[in-house]
Amino acid sequence: MISRKKLIAGNWKMNKTSADALTLVADLVASVGRQTDVDVVVCPPFTSIETVGKAIEGSMLKLGAQNMHPEASGAYTGEVSAPMLRALFATHVILGHSERRALFGETDAFVNKKVLTALKNQLKPILCVGESLGERELGLTLKIVQTQLEAGLDGVSKDLASSVVIAYEPVWAIGTGKVATTEQAQEVHAFIRSLLTKLFTEPVAQKVRILYGGSMKPANAPELLAQKDIDGGLIGGAALEARSFVELVTAAAAAK
Ligand code: PGA
Repeated sequence: MISRKKLIAGNWKMNKTSADALTLVADLVASVGRQTDVDVVVCPPFTSIETVGKAIEGSMLKLGAQNMHPEASGAYTGEVSAPMLRALFATHVILGHSERRALFGETDAFVNKKVLTALKNQLKPILCVGESLGERELGLTLKIVQTQLEAGLDGVSKDLASSVVIAYEPVWAIGTGKVATTEQAQEVHAFIRSLLTKLFTEPVAQKVRILYGGSMKPANAPELLAQKDIDGGLIGGAALEARSFVELVTAAAAAK
């Protein structure tokens, strides 16, 4: 079996001015900027992308955006494009986050366009999928995840599929302090990997990193990261402080 390098991504959401972002990223560069055991990605708001990009130059940290428009340019007030992100040396982009889906009306079809555009522009998509509490209670978890995954990856070629990162984020666990149990998370991660095998091939599915997201903290990370199909985390709240984020990177390094 292929051993996948763990990936810890910080989703800063709508937090931090560029001055605050610089303080945080400087701490991260100093503490985890040289380690190579874990891939570490920071995803600041657009306003800090350039500042953070410059601050991580020469370190092992990678830069991600939290969203992106599928078109390269044009009359899309308030949006940014893949070439714009590439020009600032971003390597990753979070797509289809549940907050984008719920608060900004993003559909699977729109998310899919973004995934295809990201790949065309050599940006690695971090495609988020996950069920709401109501959907889980109705027993619809796997069905929802399957729909979001298949629609989000529609048209992705086998050759490019292994650069996609999937984030399983149960909506009821995001920012709530309620973390999925390791069994709940592992069940969905294994299911996602089986779908990837069907959509692409077994070797591709074995290469794809599947992150867990939703109240991942230093206290619960070791157990989650020890699961066979959990290859890292997409971290919100705990990514806003250097100390907790660094602890998560350390936990991922220990779990490899
Ligand atoms: P959380 O957010 O860690 O604060 O739950 C995770 C996310 O939304 O990506």
